[in-house]
Amino acid sequence: MLLGDRVRWSRVEVASTEGLAPAILVAVLREARTTLLGRGDPDAALHLVRERLEGRERDGRPTTAGWMSLPRGASTVGGGDDVPGPVDALLGRLGLERFSTWDWMVTADEPPAVEAEDAVVRLDPVVDADAIRACLAEANPGTTADPTGPQEAAWCGVRDGDVLVGVMGASLRGGSDEGGLSWHLHGLGVRPRARGRDLGAALTAAVTRAGLSAGAEWVSLGLYADNERARGIYRRLGYATEGEFVSFGPAGARRPPT
Ligand SMILES: CC(C)(COP(=O)(O)OP(=O)(O)OC[C@H]1O[C@@H](n2cnc3c(N)ncnc32)[C@H](O)[C@@H]1OP(=O)(O)O)[C@@H](O)C(=O)NCCC(=O)NCCS
Repeated sequence: MLLGDRVRWSRVEVASTEGLAPAILVAVLREARTTLLGRGDPDAALHLVRERLEGRERDGRPTTAGWMSLPRGASTVGGGDDVPGPVDALLGRLGLERFSTWDWMVTADEPPAVEAEDAVVRLDPVVDADAIRACLAEANPGTTADPTGPQEAAWCGVRDGDVLVGVMGASLRGGSDEGGLSWHLHGLGVRPRARGRDLGAALTAAVTRAGLSAGAEWVSLGLYADNERARGIYRRLGYATEGEFVSFGPAGARRPPT
């Protein structure tokens, strides 16, 4: 996940644990916003957040962050959505509130064939941009994916006459070495009237296959932890869960950062 993401970072601070369970905290520094991403043991990751806050307070530097994702565990989510856990005591200093729970999944293998893949066509992210957006507005209004976003690798869709009834895109990410690449899938949406016909699975299989044939070492995606329907599709196609997160955003945030 970090190897894939690092192509998008220009300035980072990295802290890791010594003498504790393994964890790493990456702070991606942008002009307007710092994003914190923890990986590894949940308690140890939380310890790194606390150390970062204390260090910044000691130096008189601001402690607020624009966004934060930490591994899910007793120290971060506590007793569940309504019961505060140890992380909640830090959120005021970070200027954040709980936003979501989400998972990161990945595969490096060709997915099994899905019959409906025959209906999937490659889209032009510029020419088809408005049609893709119209489909997403109905099928997946919460997504931040956009066909004309930076680093888009491909968009696929299924048409019913002139109308796109399902779409999915992918963006380019890094690989294990300098110059290597992976694909990150996003923006899967099938209009309600076309659901239950395997189109979601067909779109995911087709874009995954396109990524692997374009040289991606792996293909990744993120999903909200409660999206069992999407999870069923991804599992069936060979995706494995490699990270379970809880994320925190500014008050009133309605979408995660892109
Ligand atoms: C998720 C989504 C793309 C699925 O599209 P779809 O074309 O209906 O999907 P498919 O027909 O390929 O597969 C649906 C599968 O979910 C299963 N399913 C349906 N409701 C389910 C539920 N509540 N819980 C678990 N599985 C469910 C179906 O039985 C089917 O399983 P199968 O693959 O074993 O047959 C569509 O519901 C959608 O656009 N949702 C809103 C946006 C979204 O959540 N996108 C994914 C973001 S990660």
